[in-house]
Amino acid sequence: MSVCQSWSVLVCPGLSCTASLLPLYLSSRGDPVRPEGFPALRAHSSVWGKPESVGVPEQRGETWRSSSSLGHTGQQSYCRHGKTWCNLSLGSGICHRITEAADCVIKKILSSQPGKILDIKDVFNCYTGDVISRYVFGQSMGFIDQEGWTPNFATWVKSFLQSAYMMRHNVVARKLAQYIPLMADYMGEDIATVMKQMNVVIPGYIQAALDDPDNGRVFAEVLQNKSLPDQYKDMFHLSGEGFNFLLAGTETTAAILTVITHHLLAQPAIYKRLMQTLGDTSSSTPEWSHLENNPYFWAIVQESLRIMPGVSHRSARIARDEDLHYKNAAGDIVHIIPRGTPIGMSSVINHMDPSLFHDPEAFKPERWLLEDGSPNHKLKNYLLAFGRGSRACISEKLANCEIYTLAVRMASRVIPRATLHEPGNPAEHFKYDHDMIVLQTKNGPISCKISIC
Ligand code: HEM
Repeated sequence: MSVCQSWSVLVCPGLSCTASLLPLYLSSRGDPVRPEGFPALRAHSSVWGKPESVGVPEQRGETWRSSSSLGHTGQQSYCRHGKTWCNLSLGSGICHRITEAADCVIKKILSSQPGKILDIKDVFNCYTGDVISRYVFGQSMGFIDQEGWTPNFATWVKSFLQSAYMMRHNVVARKLAQYIPLMADYMGEDIATVMKQMNVVIPGYIQAALDDPDNGRVFAEVLQNKSLPDQYKDMFHLSGEGFNFLLAGTETTAAILTVITHHLLAQPAIYKRLMQTLGDTSSSTPEWSHLENNPYFWAIVQESLRIMPGVSHRSARIARDEDLHYKNAAGDIVHIIPRGTPIGMSSVINHMDPSLFHDPEAFKPERWLLEDGSPNHKLKNYLLAFGRGSRACISEKLANCEIYTLAVRMASRVIPRATLHEPGNPAEHFKYDHDMIVLQTKNGPISCKISIC
């Protein structure tokens, strides 16, 4: 009960209450804005930090599918069932593969036709898609090797995210989702492709992983995991989880790399300072673990995670065994949230709270440094980019490894030859407008256009 952070919560003690509050909280535009009448609350409970007391909202006879379980009967990611693999480990093998992938990406960017404009997020989606598929299936999906940078996994899931968002908030749509596989061919090319990925391509990768357990990575381990009930080990569930990994691990990390690239180009002072702290990287590029200890680089990554939270929808939790006590900063308003109540909150609210992050819309890595230039680790208490508690991201380390490994190469080799093609105020480019599971600006998904000379 000691963690004190600013959370804004939606409290839904029963269905009738849910019905009346839903329009307030769930309107697509401005989703995480605090509903009127709900003060900024400070949590007096560690519900997001106590694995044993939280769970997915499956009471009330209703199962909340994970966003990627479209067409699957699975509940949320079952990664947590098997404690032995609940956090993706990061051996030197995968770090080596990440480095190889990053080098290929840089080579391909630098061989772009001079002056040709490319959306760097597509580049990063190819990188993250290949890294994740290599990690979980044992083979990459070949996005970096293809000609150009599209299609990639994110291209296909764009339409899926729109329908997943709607289903997340609408019980009828969620029920209808069961029939989407039957109707996929009539629902547009992207949905048909997503369905093909889920029902044909991914099961193929998983079968290959199971046929070659030494290279089978995550899925070979799942089958051997005794703590996971057998009912979750069929291809139906495994392919849902394979899709989950790709969905969770591509767009998120790519978005952070996009924000970093944008600001290194848009704010020369930040770029200059970073290069000064990195020193000469021409002969060899430092390992990501070394880079992470560079305070200014670390500060840039934290600030990017703050500005671009990766997942902008609300994280759902239930405190099963304790009532939650929320009170405002002044301590004069207290709300008791009864145990068993589904609640949700969005990291964007915290990340854009001026009492926690002064001038929150500005990209200022310096805010993460103390006066002596060392990292301000305490500020991380307010950063919820990877979530908290039992359902927090299982892959923070892998994501960091990907980010530092590619970002340092972008800084030393691509940025000096790149031109930004993003007119207007840099602060506007990633400004939250509405939620579609990942953050959307008023112009839709984030992007960053550059050309190479
Ligand atoms: C910068 C990159 C990333 C960010 C910001 C991020 C953020 C998040 C967040 C906020 C959650 C939900 C936590 C909650 O509900 O409280 C989550 C869950 C998850 N993430 Fe990540 N993530 C990133 C990269 C990755 C990668 C590379 C993978 C690799 C496969 C991954 C796999 C997952 C999975 C499987 C879950 C669901 C866990 C569960 O339901 O128990 N994420 N992530």
